[in-house]
Amino acid sequence: MTPSTAPHRGALLILNGPNLNLLGTREPGIYGTATLADVEQLTEAAAETAGFTATCLQSNHEGALVDAIHAARGTAVGIIINAGAYTHTSVALRDAIAAVELPAVEVHISNVHQREEFRHHSYLSAVCQTVIVGAGIHGYELAVSALDKSLG
Ligand code: DQA
Repeated sequence: MTPSTAPHRGALLILNGPNLNLLGTREPGIYGTATLADVEQLTEAAAETAGFTATCLQSNHEGALVDAIHAARGTAVGIIINAGAYTHTSVALRDAIAAVELPAVEVHISNVHQREEFRHHSYLSAVCQTVIVGAGIHGYELAVSALDKSLG
C-alpha cells in the first residue's frame, strides 16, 4: 500500500537573519511583498513534500543564530540559511556552519551581485554546499530541492 505521506527523512533547519522579520514591508522593490510567515509556510510545504519536516527560526541576533546552528547538530539533517547582513560580516556564523558538518544552503532573495559592492562577498558561501541568489522567495524552495537531491 502506498503511504499517504512521504517517508520522514529528518528535519531541515530554516534560519532567517536580521531584518527578515520585516519582509513584506521592507524595501518591497527589492525583497517583494511576501511576509516572513509566507516564506516559512512555503518552505515548510516544500520540505514536507520532499519528506522532511522544517524547523523555522528568525533572529536579529548573531549569537542566537550561532546557537541554532549548534543545536541542529544531531537534530537536523540540513540547514537553509538566509543570514541577511550577517552574510557579509560574520566569521562566527561561517565557523558554526563548518563546525556542525551539516549540508547547508545559503539563500538570498535579492541578487546580491547586482547590488552594492559590500554585498558581493559572503563569509558563508565557502562552507555551504549550494548558494542561491536572486530567485526571490522561490529560492527557499530551490534550497529544499538542493538538499532533497544531495541527501539522496
Ligand atoms: C539578503 C541580502 C543581504 O545583503 C541583506 O543584508 C539582507 C537580505 C537577501 O535575502 O537578499 O538582509 O540576504
